Amino acid sequence: MTTNASLLARRQKAVPRGVVTGAPIFLDRALNGEMWDVEGNRYVDFGSGIAVTNTGHRHPKIMAAAAAQSEKFAHVAFQVTGYEGYVELAERLNDLAPINDAKSIFFTTGAEATENAVKIARAYTGRQAVITFTGAFHGRTQLTMAMTGKAVPYRTRGTPLAAGIFHVPFPIAHHGVTEEDALHALHNVFKADVGPQDVAAIVIEPVQGEGGFYQTPKAFMTELRRICDEHGICLVADEVQTGFARTGKIFAIEHYDIEPDLIPVAKALGGGFPISGVIGKAHIMDAAEPGGLGGTYAGNPIACAAALAVLDVIDEEKLCERADTIGGIMLARIEKFKQSNSLRPIGDVRGLGAMVAFEMVKERGGNEPDPDATKAVTAAALKAGLILLSCGYYANTIRLLAPLTIDMAHLDEGLDMLEVALKV
Ligand SMILES: Cc1ncc(COP(=O)(O)O)c(C=O)c1O
Repeated sequence: MTTNASLLARRQKAVPRGVVTGAPIFLDRALNGEMWDVEGNRYVDFGSGIAVTNTGHRHPKIMAAAAAQSEKFAHVAFQVTGYEGYVELAERLNDLAPINDAKSIFFTTGAEATENAVKIARAYTGRQAVITFTGAFHGRTQLTMAMTGKAVPYRTRGTPLAAGIFHVPFPIAHHGVTEEDALHALHNVFKADVGPQDVAAIVIEPVQGEGGFYQTPKAFMTELRRICDEHGICLVADEVQTGFARTGKIFAIEHYDIEPDLIPVAKALGGGFPISGVIGKAHIMDAAEPGGLGGTYAGNPIACAAALAVLDVIDEEKLCERADTIGGIMLARIEKFKQSNSLRPIGDVRGLGAMVAFEMVKERGGNEPDPDATKAVTAAALKAGLILLSCGYYANTIRLLAPLTIDMAHLDEGLDMLEVALKV
């Protein structure tokens, strides 16, 4: 019989350690908010494949759309012949994005989307430098690795870093960086490292994903927009993790009063089928030379069909509203956990829609990060039957990313499992 242990042994021989699997189980099947491993064990899914299955596992509409497209053709390359699904998806996203007069282009992974947003911003401005933030995560390619604001494990072992990337501290008041501190640091970068006239883009996640679910403060985002306008810099809102109803809006940047220039998207757009894209102001998007953008698999037809169905499901099932409901239920339970003396100490609790997180701290009422407790809780959650992810610049954030379609009974069950995992 195939067991988790036998597959783990084969995996360790066949697959390098550089790709880490958080839960040492091997999946057999999944449906909406539930998963079953090869031994038949059942789990509630609070991971959504890292914010991908916002529409749940195997949503019938999405699977049907992908199946219908696969009956026609699976691949042609958009650079070889066009197909309607690609164009229709661009039209739908152009209408949905908070950008007046937008165009969209598609790729496959989030890193590609973020990297291409920078490429487009560089083509438009004719400048090279890019500013990103500590704790940011933008991918694992050569450029996005340099943009990512966490050295270990993403930028180690002598890997040369792409030039022209400058990091500014991300404002997290309870970890000692105020908005004023961050703006001061940005002005120092302009003075000491690169003049604003040489900066192509400032790239920021509206809510940091891998960095710990820290929301960019509203006034800070407004000030970034003002600075970008003053100096002709493109403001890029990386929505790879926040996009597609996760935060209670289709795009998290809709929580702000500003219009970004470019929005890289990926993950939940395809509902499990690999597709990413960049949505942006038309005159900026058109700056790259013909032939300068694209990719063999970019905007795969099956993934485009799935993505169109994802947008329908988000609309028909009111997943933005559902994100708020789910987030509210989660936050209320976590606040209760925080008050309980029989559970491990919890620090800051935060959430925007269903992008909810809390910090594990060394002492009740304290603020000192406890990465060991964080690891212990995710491991205990798995034992209890809950797929739970950690993250964070300080490696002490537990993030809750249930599918937005999750059955409410499964949501409660998952939170009960989390309570068990938090027991001292
Ligand atoms: C905000 C953000 N940008 C970019 C990426 C990279 O996406 P991918 O892993 O699909 O390359 C991620 C992945 O977690 C992300 O959260």
